[in-house]
Amino acid sequence: MVMTAREVDPRVQAFLGGGPKRLLIGGDFVEAASGKTFATHDPATGDRLAEVAEGDAADIDRAVQAARRAFDGGPWPAMTAAERSRLIWRLADLIEERSEVFAQLETLDNGKPLTVARRDDVGGTVEYFRYYAGWPTKIEGATVPVSVADTFAYTLRQPVGVCGQIVPWNYPLMMAAWKVAPALAAGCTVVLKPAEQTPLSAILLGELCLEAGIPPGVVNVVTGYGETAGAALAAHPHVDKVAFTGSSEVGRLILRAASQSNLKKVSLELGGKSPNIVFADADMDAAREGAAAGIFYNMGQDCTAGSRVFVEHGIYDDVAQFIADQAAKLRVGPGFDEATEIGPLVSQEQLDRVLGYIELGPGEGARILSGGGRAEGAELQKGFFVKPTVLANARNDMRVAQEEIFGPVVSVIPFRDVEDVVRQGNDIAYGLGAGIWTKNLAKAHRVASALRAGTVWVNTYGATDAALPFGGFKESGHGREMGFEAIHLYTEVKSVWVNLAES
Ligand code: NAI
Ligand code: MG
Repeated sequence: MVMTAREVDPRVQAFLGGGPKRLLIGGDFVEAASGKTFATHDPATGDRLAEVAEGDAADIDRAVQAARRAFDGGPWPAMTAAERSRLIWRLADLIEERSEVFAQLETLDNGKPLTVARRDDVGGTVEYFRYYAGWPTKIEGATVPVSVADTFAYTLRQPVGVCGQIVPWNYPLMMAAWKVAPALAAGCTVVLKPAEQTPLSAILLGELCLEAGIPPGVVNVVTGYGETAGAALAAHPHVDKVAFTGSSEVGRLILRAASQSNLKKVSLELGGKSPNIVFADADMDAAREGAAAGIFYNMGQDCTAGSRVFVEHGIYDDVAQFIADQAAKLRVGPGFDEATEIGPLVSQEQLDRVLGYIELGPGEGARILSGGGRAEGAELQKGFFVKPTVLANARNDMRVAQEEIFGPVVSVIPFRDVEDVVRQGNDIAYGLGAGIWTKNLAKAHRVASALRAGTVWVNTYGATDAALPFGGFKESGHGREMGFEAIHLYTEVKSVWVNLAES
């Protein structure tokens, strides 16, 4: 299906027309200091969607200065909590009003099915901002009974300051929301650097921040490449904290940049290779469907994708075949087609990477049970489409089972018993998510406790909620987003001693 002008919302056309998209710095939309722009593409066709300002170190510096002015003696941290709360809620309302525009921009820029973008990416973002809109009035310190005579001691929880936020392309708007919302609630100011593959929704988010009445300079958006704009933000001496979601490789670079500059605070949400475990005593219909959905959602471009499905001896062949049959049934096509279940991958680079792993699997001894290459069909050849792929007879020590593929490719691995699957499940550098399918309650809780992962789903897979902490053990990250944990990430605790003795 070729997208026609009739199907694109006129507001989206207006947004995409009218010259290169600009940076948001200090409340103004400006060109990059270098004057350079770069193109963002539609992964379903490879066509250029828009030109976008290519910010680099000079622009990051301008944006950090604007964020500093808005923070140091500026309006945002000084505003009453109730007023900050009202403005964040207003932003959520504006995003909701523009839901269709955001959903179409996400589908055009990232490729994901429009039905999913509407429901999850945009719907989830609105709820997420509303959740954090409630927090400013609830960020409290404590009075503490220190053991010193005539002393009153209390804590204040204060905003950490100017936050650099570097986000990936798999959920462009939602990843921005996960970082911007708690930072605003805490009273921080922000320089947001969206991924170069998907910069559009962050630019619109910046526009709506201004429209909501959030003061200029509180949210700045600098589009550009990771190696230039992203690296400059991570290394900037006047940034108090950097928050990052993306690859472990870049996570390491960010830690290094922080340690070599001003020791800014760092929170990281990195990759995963999550075990999704099917025990023989599970509700088999739910478990098999959960195993398939756990990997193929968002084309497998998900940090918690259940990319290692462990299946107990005895039911292995049945479950592997079921997932393969599901994979073959999924409808691959452009995200704008409302019947599409599997859209394109985000870029040629990701397509090459995923196809490389699909070739590697059989070389390591895995058997392709379904999929195994690019999607067929003349209209799909210009885009980055891959068939959902099931690798059976996989072993946990294969590279396809140890490395994050970030595509619709699952390794199905057999196991003997609880002890065996806990050992194999944990035998990996990552620790982001895990799934357990069993009707045995005691076993479910025992395994949930034993798996070294930041989130464990029992008889379900993949849900997140603004109220529940999210993040990784081991190389999957530092810190937790969501809930009060994210407020921790964006605040510093100050202890105040007061001498009450009469002089
Ligand atoms: P990436 O980690 O390079 O990109 C994520 C963000 O980091 C983007 O905004 C990018 O511009 C920025 N960035 C890149 N280099 C940087 C640097 N030196 N300093 C500061 N910021 C920098 O990820 P990429 O290359 O797009 O994808 C490669 C792999 O990373 C994927 O195949 C997947 O395995 C993993 N990944 C994981 C994600 C997650 O949700 N945990 C999201 C995106 C990618
Ligand atoms: Mg793009």
